[in-house]
Amino acid sequence: MPALPTLPSNIIILMEMLRDTRTPASEAIQRIEQDQVLSARVLKLVNSSYYSTAYGVASIAHAVALLGYEEIWKLVVGSAAMELISANDLNLWLHSYTSSILMKELIEAEGINCSSKIQLTMLMHDIGKIVLLNYNLEAYRKVQDSSIEDSTMAHTVEEAQLGVNHAEVGSWLLESWALDEEQVLPIAQHHCTALPDLYATESILIKLVDYLDHAARGHHYPPPEVEELESIGLGDLDQERWLQQHQTRISELNLSDQPQARASD
Ligand SMILES: [Fe+2]
Ligand SMILES: [Fe+2]
Repeated sequence: MPALPTLPSNIIILMEMLRDTRTPASEAIQRIEQDQVLSARVLKLVNSSYYSTAYGVASIAHAVALLGYEEIWKLVVGSAAMELISANDLNLWLHSYTSSILMKELIEAEGINCSSKIQLTMLMHDIGKIVLLNYNLEAYRKVQDSSIEDSTMAHTVEEAQLGVNHAEVGSWLLESWALDEEQVLPIAQHHCTALPDLYATESILIKLVDYLDHAARGHHYPPPEVEELESIGLGDLDQERWLQQHQTRISELNLSDQPQARASD
């Protein structure tokens, strides 16, 4: 198993504090505020299109009072994941970020009953690529080159060249960060062809949004099977409308792929 990136100890302590409803708010706020970079990232995220609120949150105390511990926990984990992805692969960050925005819009508009952490799960679905990239940059660049040259999806090339794919590696990473099965399993399953037994809705939603984001970016990417969409009640989804809407969103937010940077699935 490749070495897995660890979270700073402050983030680990904070994640535990936010999971315990008995933690006094003043302690949680103080712990976040002690870390100025984290505070700034959390406030940026909560006021960004990722969160799509019009709250105008100006302080951590305001954010905690308004959103509660579970939402703050998600923002802390999300900002750590974004930091890791954006520092390593710009186009993967763009794909992850706009996919997470689309996931939120889709589940709200379609009234889909699923994990309350699905937007964050979507944000982190390809994080295993960062682990593979950091483990052996040269080997992973070869994977990316073969994937482009042969028009083969990255996870297939990873399996052939590295013996493991980013979905599995991502799930190991998030397990090591003490995330729950409801996030770990859908990430592990996001390139599986068989219908999953557990967290099928979340796993298929990730496939669907993954496809829509790639298609909106002009990448060749296979859509989910009709059978998969039907199994979660989305057999009649107007994919064309979602695709066009998402293309507009990406260009309005100026989050299209950057030339020279590498695309990833
Ligand atoms: Fe993937
Ligand atoms: Fe993806």
